[in-house]
Order: sequence, then C-alpha cells, then structure tokens
Amino acid sequence: MAERQSIHGQWSSRLVFILAATGSAVGLGNVWKFPYITGENGGGAFVIVYLVCIALVGVPIMMAEIMLGRRGRQSPINTMAALSREEGANKAWSLIGWSGVLAGFFILSYYSVIAGWALAYVARAGAGLFSGLDAAGVESMFNSLVGSPERLLAWHTLFMLMSMFVVAKGVKSGLEKAVTYLMPALFLLLLLLVGYAMNTGFFVEGLEFLFSPDFSKLIYTCQVVDGVEQCDISGGPLLVAMGHAFFTLSLGMGAIMVYGSYMPKKSSIAGSAVLIALLDTLVALLAGMAIFPIVFANGLEPGAGPGLIFQTLPIAFGGMPGGHLFGTLFFVLLVFAAWSSSISLIEPAVAWLVENREMTRVRASIWIGLTTWVIGLGTVFSFNIWSDVKLFDMTFFDLLDYLTANIMLPLGGLLIAIFSGWLMKKASSQEEFAMAGSAYSLWWTLIRYVSPFAVVVVFLHAIGLF
Ligand code: PFF
Repeated sequence: MAERQSIHGQWSSRLVFILAATGSAVGLGNVWKFPYITGENGGGAFVIVYLVCIALVGVPIMMAEIMLGRRGRQSPINTMAALSREEGANKAWSLIGWSGVLAGFFILSYYSVIAGWALAYVARAGAGLFSGLDAAGVESMFNSLVGSPERLLAWHTLFMLMSMFVVAKGVKSGLEKAVTYLMPALFLLLLLLVGYAMNTGFFVEGLEFLFSPDFSKLIYTCQVVDGVEQCDISGGPLLVAMGHAFFTLSLGMGAIMVYGSYMPKKSSIAGSAVLIALLDTLVALLAGMAIFPIVFANGLEPGAGPGLIFQTLPIAFGGMPGGHLFGTLFFVLLVFAAWSSSISLIEPAVAWLVENREMTRVRASIWIGLTTWVIGLGTVFSFNIWSDVKLFDMTFFDLLDYLTANIMLPLGGLLIAIFSGWLMKKASSQEEFAMAGSAYSLWWTLIRYVSPFAVVVVFLHAIGLF
C-alpha cells in the first residue's frame, strides 16, 4: 500500500513518539488513581489482576492502536473510516473514533478537576504549609480545598487553560521538550519518596499490602451484619483492575491511535509498546510503594478514596529534611505528568475538527476546552454542593469515572481488538508491523483470542453472569 502522510505532521523520531506516548500514559492514573483504587480493592490480588491485564490485554491493544493509527494517518474517526473501507468492513467501525472522542471529553472533564487539586497543592507546598502537619492536619487541608466550589473551579479553569494552550500550539512543540526532562525528574522524586517510606518502619506492611494476594478479596465483599458474616458476589474489583489497565495506558479511546498516526514509518511498534507499558507500570508501583507505608505508619485508611495521596504525601514532605523544596517539586511534576496526559485526551477531537471542519487548531482547542470545562463543573460540585446528588449510588464524578474507565475504554479496546484481529486482513497488519514471524504470531494470537476473551469474561463477571 502506498504510504499516507498525516496533514498534522510527524514526530521527529521514534524516541519522540515514545516520550509523547509515555507522557500520555503516565499521569494522574499512576500516582493518584492506582494507589487509591488499590487501597479500595484490598491490595495484592487486585494488583496482580491489573498486571495480568496490562500484559495480556493492554500491550496487544496498544500495539493494535499504534498500528491502525500509523496506517490510517488521520484522526481516529477518519482512520477507522478509511481502514474499514480499505479492508472491506462496514463503515460503522468509525464509531470507535466517535466513542473515543466522547470518552476523551468525559475523562478530561474530571481529570482537569483533579489536576487542579495538584495545582492547589503546588501553592500549599510552596507556601510551606505542609511543615509539621499530622494526619488530622492534612485531612482538614484536603477537606477545606474540596469543600470549596470556588477554589476547585479556579484551579480547574487554570488547568483547562493550560491544556488548551498546548493543544492549540500543536502537540509537538513545547511540551515535548518539557516532558523529556520532567518525566525522569518525577521518577527520581518517586524514588526519594520510596526511600522515605523505607524509614517509616512500615515499609514491609506497605509491600505486603501491595504484593501479597488474598484472592477472596476479588470475588466477595463481606460484611458482618448482626453478628453474621454476609458475602455477596461482586464483579467490581476485576472490572476496576481491567478498566484501570486501559485508563493508565491511555487505551480504548484513540489517544494512542492519534499519536501513532504521527509515528515515523520505520519505527518498531512492538518495542515501543512494551517499553511504554513497562515505564507506566513502574511508575504506578513506585507510587504505591511510597504511599502505603505512609498510610500504615500514620494509622490512615488505605480505602480513603480519591483524596488518598493528598492526605498522605504532605505528611511525608512535612516531616522530611528539604521537604519544602521536594514537596513543591513533586506536585509541580505531577501537574506536568497530568498536563502531558490531558493533551492526548483532546487531540483525537482536535485532529478531527481540523480535518473535517477545516478549523484552525486554535479554534478547535478553544471549542473543545470550553465544552469540557462546562462538563467539569459537574465534578467540581460533586465534591461539595452536589455531594448528595447520586445516581446508582454514585456522585457525578464517580459516575463519569465508572462509565469511562470501566465501560467505554474496555469496550473501545474490545472493538479495536476485533477489528485488527478478525476484520483486517492479516497481510495488512503484517505489512504495518514488519515484525519477525514468531513475534507477529504471538501478537496475532493475543489480539484475536486472548484480549477480547479477557474483556468479555470480565464484563460478564461484572454483570453477575457467573
Ligand atoms: N493514562 C492517563 C493516566 O494514567 O493518567 C490518563 C489517560 C490519558 C486516559 C489519555 C486515557 C487517555 F486517552
């Protein structure tokens, strides 16, 4: 097939693609979400399921997304339309692109609010407010932030403006350079925090919580009611672990596909995907190893929910030498990690508007940023004035998070797996991957049988079918 060119340009090298995709993958999902959902879902067994999902579902689907993107060289909507035409499949497959655009709006709307918390904590750390704080002190600091709609709104607005700014300029300039230095710096600071955690006297407890599995926690949630233990079957933890594998690797919504569409032709897709997944997983595990010892050393609850890192790390920074500087730096780096993820959430939609509506990147970014900002108001209020407004027992924030991470992304990933494993001609994917025979066969087996099967089984389990 004659090679297409992207009208949006191309990454200057494979390394730049890897940096950008790692920038998209590593974000709040690793440092903020992974620890708190691990805490809520009982630790070790949950972590194992998550790791298995990364390897058997995440990596093959990431390879598929990059492959489709690079072959189509357009926004995910148009890429899927073009490839289905070429492969003789139904045009409706472009729905993958549409649902991705919608998921991107939803995710960014709350991602920006949480990134706003990190921004607020840069200010607090910078002002030296962590020093000497105990568990009660950090809790009240956190509650006074999320309890104030005005403050959350201000930080959410600031973060959204930052994201719009970079997307308007083009993903390749600016942030790309920043990510080159800031990602390694975040990694080093996480190592420093793990070092601190080793000295809390609770490091082993933390590691045990993270890595020693109790599989009964995956299947049953038990409560003692009137002295009798009652257990009900819930598919929850399995679904959350699988959903998080998609979320943390930015899969199932076209973000990696659109980045793949800017990838140079000769670069290895498999090598890049494995590397990105390894780096992403490492960051998440380091965050967990830093946080849980602090949780146990201070008598905090592992299942404290979305505030977990904001209620643990400040205690560590407040008590360590140089904590003023390190604390500020840590939250600055967390903001950067979130920033490089947020731009990939809107890029699929921006690319489509530029292609189909002939908009400039600037106008497209403004429209998308504004819409997402408005949806984000729901999340802002769900932590305060609307905290009692619930649907299916979930607040607006919980609902958006559940719908996107646990349903939309895995569903998008399932469709991507089916398209690339069953509908696309083998010759086409083989041509795009240009891999050795056995490596290709491994991917082909995983994407055709293992990944879709795993997603379907977890879905069926979650709705209580077995
Ligand atoms: N992977 C990002 C994180 O872990 O924070 C979040 C994310 C970015 C999800 C881009 C989905 C996406 F398309």
